[in-house]
Amino acid sequence: MRVLVAGGAGYIGSVVTAALLSGGHEVTVLDDLSTGHADAVPEGATFVQASLHDSAPVLADVRPEAVLHFAAKSLVGVSQTQPEDYWHTNVGGSLALLEAMRAVDCRRIVFSSTAATYGEPESVPITEDAPTRPTNTYGASKLAVDHMLTSYAVAHRFAAVSLRYFNVAGAGFGRGERHATETHLIPIALQVAAGTREAITVYGEDYPTPDGTCIRDYVHVLDLADAHLLALPAPAPGEHRVYNLGNGTGFSVQQVVDAVREVTGHPVPVVVGARRAGDPAQLVASSERIRADLGWAPQHAELTTMVRDAWELSRPAPR
Ligand code: UFG
Repeated sequence: MRVLVAGGAGYIGSVVTAALLSGGHEVTVLDDLSTGHADAVPEGATFVQASLHDSAPVLADVRPEAVLHFAAKSLVGVSQTQPEDYWHTNVGGSLALLEAMRAVDCRRIVFSSTAATYGEPESVPITEDAPTRPTNTYGASKLAVDHMLTSYAVAHRFAAVSLRYFNVAGAGFGRGERHATETHLIPIALQVAAGTREAITVYGEDYPTPDGTCIRDYVHVLDLADAHLLALPAPAPGEHRVYNLGNGTGFSVQQVVDAVREVTGHPVPVVVGARRAGDPAQLVASSERIRADLGWAPQHAELTTMVRDAWELSRPAPR
């Protein structure tokens, strides 16, 4: 299939682009490089540097049969202090992309949604029928696009899938997390193990969990890539499907730090800090729906595998 990947120079988008290419798809990457890296775009893909707001001429030129849409601002904390950027890029940019698709009669899309659309869950594991009450602008902006897709499916016969990622981890096709501002647990803990950061601050150990630290559901980026390839042909015109992507198993911050110590063999000093605003105690996915509908079967569900793959890619070269 001829596909356009918006955000294909970022962490998840570049891994999925590589998976699409190895699956025989023809790929054009559109990315404004605001957070992505040109050298992350896999060889074999055509790269166009442009923002979502300027995507219409690119789609008119490429004439894709489908779009995979990863391009977004994704820092929860910043979304609270600079919400305008999140509405402009995540919502305004997505609307521009959908209109650019409609103009060239491209009506198939897979969208990167998030567990942050649910907010503080009433119960875990979280199913797709759980209430969506985001606690930050990032989650609200992604939820707005989910609603957009439902209405485009109904009114304009789009075939759409929203994949709600939980905590994505690991590396694949030689690509991993590389953020200018790193906020995520595993890359920060690996930096400490590598000696480029002194200690990791654990944000709160007084949560109602067995060891007092927050619990998250980590999913390997290669398993996520598989889900995209399965989702791409799945919906019929007029259909908008929503799928959670997680392993259904939670690991605490403490368990993640222990896994980093085990995998790297290095000490990881910990400082206990205050809770981070907006962090739910526990986010664990039920991914029964995508397993049943599309036969998704994660192959890399072990936490140590995710940590090892990220470490292999990011660790300093031996002297
Ligand atoms: N944490 C620390 N110290 C750190 C970094 C993180 O203790 O230095 C803790 C957090 O408080 C949280 C857990 O580690 O309890 C995981 O934090 P991350 O920042 O790695 O991930 P989040 O769960 O906050 O966020 C991820 C995605 C978001 C998405 C969210 C939805 O990064 O984009 O999942 O579940 F919105």
